Amino acid sequence: MTTSQPTPLADLFRLDGRVALVTGASSGLGVFFAETLAEAGADVVLGARRVDRLEETKAKVEALGRRAVAVQTDVTRPEDCTAMVAAAMEQLGRVDVLVNNAGIGTAVPATKETPEQFSSVVEINLHGTYWMAQAAARVMQPGSSIVNISSVLGLTTAGLPQAAYSASKAAVIGLTRDLAQQWTGRKGIRVNALAPGWFESEMTDSYQPGYLEQMLQRVPMGRVGDPRELAATLVWLAGPAGGYVTGQTIAVDGGVTIT
Ligand SMILES: NC(=O)c1ccc[n+]([C@@H]2O[C@H](COP(=O)([O-])OP(=O)(O)OC[C@H]3O[C@@H](n4cnc5c(N)ncnc54)[C@H](OP(=O)(O)O)[C@@H]3O)[C@@H](O)[C@H]2O)c1
Repeated sequence: MTTSQPTPLADLFRLDGRVALVTGASSGLGVFFAETLAEAGADVVLGARRVDRLEETKAKVEALGRRAVAVQTDVTRPEDCTAMVAAAMEQLGRVDVLVNNAGIGTAVPATKETPEQFSSVVEINLHGTYWMAQAAARVMQPGSSIVNISSVLGLTTAGLPQAAYSASKAAVIGLTRDLAQQWTGRKGIRVNALAPGWFESEMTDSYQPGYLEQMLQRVPMGRVGDPRELAATLVWLAGPAGGYVTGQTIAVDGGVTIT
């Protein structure tokens, strides 16, 4: 009698033959996510509004030997989300992973924030995440994985007036939990969230001088994160290595949420 060998541990972190969608792939963490998923073997579909910047990410993915498709996508438009998924199906034939990374951050004192300012953040960070998840889940097969990018601001405060951002990122955690209970058993789609701490990007470049240094005093690790550390956690959740993990929010934050 032959017994089947367990999959080698390193292979659990491979995404060969899989197709991953990354929103917000035109700058910052989204570029790192796309590159890391490609390094793990996935072909990648890239969405954001700035197509010239998406083309730069596309070239980076192709330089790693993987296929890439750039699709101009405004995640606040459900029809754009459907079109991004349709492009993936037409050009690459499947959707295995969705990384809901598109997001904006603002800091506006609550008594001064206009309804338009508040709504625009929620429309991108929360509604956009939901429209993309809906579109992807309609075509995903069992074994697929959705990773929503929340934030430590969904779990704690950080010295800035960020009602819209914090509310939207906390809502993404609730959305993650609910979609996991709807889809994990019935569709075989795992749904998890990452809550990053501070990582350098265009978003953090916009902070006032001294803010980041002040915040780092609260971070047990005493430094900002390396995007590779976050992307590695993404690969774990995206593929077979995270096969028994669903509905969870994983903080990758140097420990800030325990302070
Ligand atoms: N960096 C950090 O320390 C940190 C910490 C916690 C959480 N996060 C989260 O990580 C994600 C990425 O942030 P980042 O730091 O890499 O910021 P970033 O460099 O500003 O990137 C944001 C991305 O979102 C895209 N985007 C914004 N609005 C969009 C829309 N309506 N439709 C489609 N794409 C849109 C932008 O592309 P276009 O402008 O081209 O559309 C861009 O590619 C965000 O969800 C953010 O909240 C970041």
